[in-house]
Amino acid sequence: MGNKKILVTGGTGFIGSHTVVELQQHGYDVVIIDNLSNSTIEVLDNIAKITGIVPVFEQFDLADADRTTDFLHRHSDISGIIHFAAFKAVGESMEKPLHYYRNNVQSLINLLEGMKNNGITNLVFSSSCTVYGQPDELPVTEKAPIKPAWSPYGNTKQMCEDILKFTTMAHPIHAIALRYFNPIGAHHTSLIGELPLGVPNNLVPFITQTAIGQRSCLSVFGNDYNTPDGTAVRDYIHVVDIAKAHVVAVERMLNGKCKLDLEIFNLGTGIGYSVMDVINAFEKVSGEKLNYKIVPRRPGDVEMVWADTRFANEELGWKAEKNVDEMMLAAWNWEKALAAKKI
Ligand code: UFG
Repeated sequence: MGNKKILVTGGTGFIGSHTVVELQQHGYDVVIIDNLSNSTIEVLDNIAKITGIVPVFEQFDLADADRTTDFLHRHSDISGIIHFAAFKAVGESMEKPLHYYRNNVQSLINLLEGMKNNGITNLVFSSSCTVYGQPDELPVTEKAPIKPAWSPYGNTKQMCEDILKFTTMAHPIHAIALRYFNPIGAHHTSLIGELPLGVPNNLVPFITQTAIGQRSCLSVFGNDYNTPDGTAVRDYIHVVDIAKAHVVAVERMLNGKCKLDLEIFNLGTGIGYSVMDVINAFEKVSGEKLNYKIVPRRPGDVEMVWADTRFANEELGWKAEKNVDEMMLAAWNWEKALAAKKI
């Protein structure tokens, strides 16, 4: 019998590409679907440089029901699907809500429909700690109430979790939703990493682009939060730790270990770092002085959030291993590798 085949949607993206590498290194055959709306085709070669294997790739939009149906019909021997493909910029989602609902929600519906019709039973879904809003208690557990969404992006994650809940009840499909906290860093080879198009929205790419000289100054959004140093606190987690959790989730499904039709796990380290902590870690590991200024809060930002990781640690059997210094060093090495390529 050959290797088990896993479909990774969004497999050329940031978290997707790292997960493809981990899957291949665990002996899985990987097929990628990506429309390349926020990634490039070169990622495939870079994955192959790390693992020695070029993943099978098809470029199309999962919001296209006919293409998705046709693909799953041709690949009904898939053992499981990891569904990353989605838009993820909070600010953009406020300007183009329908774009987000169509892409993020329609794609999931098309995939589930295709799974149902072709007897594919295992799905891992990319969710987000954004579903918790500002939690009432920290660290936040998976049982915490879902708060009204602050953006269409966050709303699509909530809607998708609901779609999974009812679809897995009605049909023989198992799903695991992984709620990511703040994934950062890059592969230690610096061959794959985050490739933000245009001005980055997220903190870490903005830090590394500022240090490399591509941006003049980082704006720190608010230092008047009720936190130890006044800047907002998040649970940053190394992207390779996140990728490894997907392999564990796939194995849980393939080994028939799921206890519920839909299982939900937090993917975080359980440690909260402020924006200033992240800047300080960056300066320490890079030896660079970062140019930054304090500006008003960014609308829609929560004050602080970090994960209770016990359920993921004990039930899923996965634990984040890398600390913030390792995350910042990996992100910095990736930025330097990108800069070297541009010259
Ligand atoms: N920040 C700055 N300056 C910047 C960018 C960010 O100070 O230039 C601050 C933010 O205000 C926040 C922290 O750095 O306090 C982290 O911001 P990010 O944009 O990196 O991450 P968020 O926590 O806002 O967003 C992330 C994901 C979203 C997800 C959200 C909540 O990017 O997809 O978590 O789950 F919705």
